Amino acid sequence: MKLIYKQMLGFFAVILTCIVIVGLLFINVTTRMLYTNTWTQLQNYSDSLIEDSMRYDENTKQFEGLTTIPLQNNARLLARQNVHFTIYSKENKISYSSSEFATQVSKADWKKLKQGKTVHKMMATAVKTDTSSKSSSKKAGVNRPQMTEVVRPYFYKGKLVAVVSIGAYVSDIQGNVKQIQNNLWIAFVVSTLISLILSYFLARSTTKRIDKMRIATHQITHGNYDVKLDLRGRDEISELSNDFGKMAGSLQESQEEIKRQEERRRKFMADAAHEMRTPLTTINGLLEGLEYDAIPEEDKAQSIKLMQNDTKRLIRLVNDNLDYEKIRTNQFTMERKVFNAAEVLANLSEQLNKKADNQGDKIIVDAPDSLMTYADYDRFVQVIFNIVQNAIQFTKDGTITLKAEKVETGSQFEISDTGIGMTDEQVKNIWERFYKADRSRMNTEYGESGLGLAIVHQLVDLHGGKIDVTSEYGKGTKFTIYFPDREHAKHS
Ligand SMILES: Nc1ncnc2c1ncn2[C@@H]1O[C@H](COP(=O)(O)OP(=O)(O)OP(=O)(O)O)[C@@H](O)[C@H]1O
Ligand SMILES: [Mg+2]
Repeated sequence: MKLIYKQMLGFFAVILTCIVIVGLLFINVTTRMLYTNTWTQLQNYSDSLIEDSMRYDENTKQFEGLTTIPLQNNARLLARQNVHFTIYSKENKISYSSSEFATQVSKADWKKLKQGKTVHKMMATAVKTDTSSKSSSKKAGVNRPQMTEVVRPYFYKGKLVAVVSIGAYVSDIQGNVKQIQNNLWIAFVVSTLISLILSYFLARSTTKRIDKMRIATHQITHGNYDVKLDLRGRDEISELSNDFGKMAGSLQESQEEIKRQEERRRKFMADAAHEMRTPLTTINGLLEGLEYDAIPEEDKAQSIKLMQNDTKRLIRLVNDNLDYEKIRTNQFTMERKVFNAAEVLANLSEQLNKKADNQGDKIIVDAPDSLMTYADYDRFVQVIFNIVQNAIQFTKDGTITLKAEKVETGSQFEISDTGIGMTDEQVKNIWERFYKADRSRMNTEYGESGLGLAIVHQLVDLHGGKIDVTSEYGKGTKFTIYFPDREHAKHS
């Protein structure tokens, strides 16, 4: 069964049950009310009957009986309203009856009456009284319709003197009840129709929202992630639609990530192949030259040196790539400890002095005697070494300054040079693998591959640190690296 019909059925059942319950309660209450009203009225009639006809001695103040004439008058008057009464003596004998019928007062009722209680009867069957059968034998055998009755005792000076049983036709009340029932039936049919329409719209409002989600799912399966689900409300469906939207968003993100990865992989393959081609071509050319003796004897040593350089470069390329992948995929462990970074800077500057000299550069170290830094020692050296090496590589006859200082939450290092600098566009890309700002400045002496800064960036990230660069084309470059101290480092 379609969801909309199921929902409709549910709503309809609830509404219908409510209508039926309310209807039944209404009939019950109105019927009860009709009876109560009739009983009150009958009670009043009965009271005035006794009041009109009660006879007692003025002197002795003794009850003498009931006067017949006012009883007869009242009987005629009440008969027009279909009201009949019977008066019983204190011995439970009929002393007067307005009609030929009278109900019998049971022993149990008589007991209650004696206690002064009024007895109400919803339905009482009247039987023919002896006297009435004599007076009107024509009506013999005819059953009188059922009556609703009030049986009420009357006392004079604390003694029971008479009991009045007064009743009206049940059919009169039933007629009213029937009328109400008929009206209710009409109301029931109308409200059933309305509830049907209402349950349709209620069900539709739910299924419409589910339909929207179905369409959106369909769109997503066809690769369109840009779905907007604007399902208002605060119920589970709108929560589901929110989650659905989030899911579509993350699906889109992962789809884009897959594309990015694919693009990166493709670029990496192309770049790696490109990087390897040059040294491999050189080696191959030189090997061919050696094979066919095309290289003069005095150049052979130089050729072998070239081949060695290129082979080293290839090895470095492969190692650097492996290193990069290891860091990227978290396959390597850091062993962080606290050491004096000022000493490392001094050592590095000493190590690289020769290289700097070759370029006509001067290295200046501006650091306190002790700068305790929390990092993996070897990786820290790798980071600083790479950056200083770059600075030497791209600076001719200039100055390279290594500055180190303690900052609030860690140690900060600034490596600035007065070299060739970079444009903003170049600065943006230096962290990319294989990126070289300007191929024409390639200096094979260093065998660069464009992997150095990509690895440096990853290493600093892994330490929870930060690396920034500012550069001015033609003037120089400054790298700022920050390592957090032990308390502020994230432990991965
Ligand atoms: N101090 C600097 N001054 C000017 N340009 C720089 C400086 N440092 C880096 N660059 C630019 O950023 C590029 C990327 O540097 P990176 O260290 O990643 O690669 P590389 O030095 O070319 O090769 P590798 O370090 O792998 O041998 C360099 O090719 C260079 O163009
Ligand atoms: Mg480098």
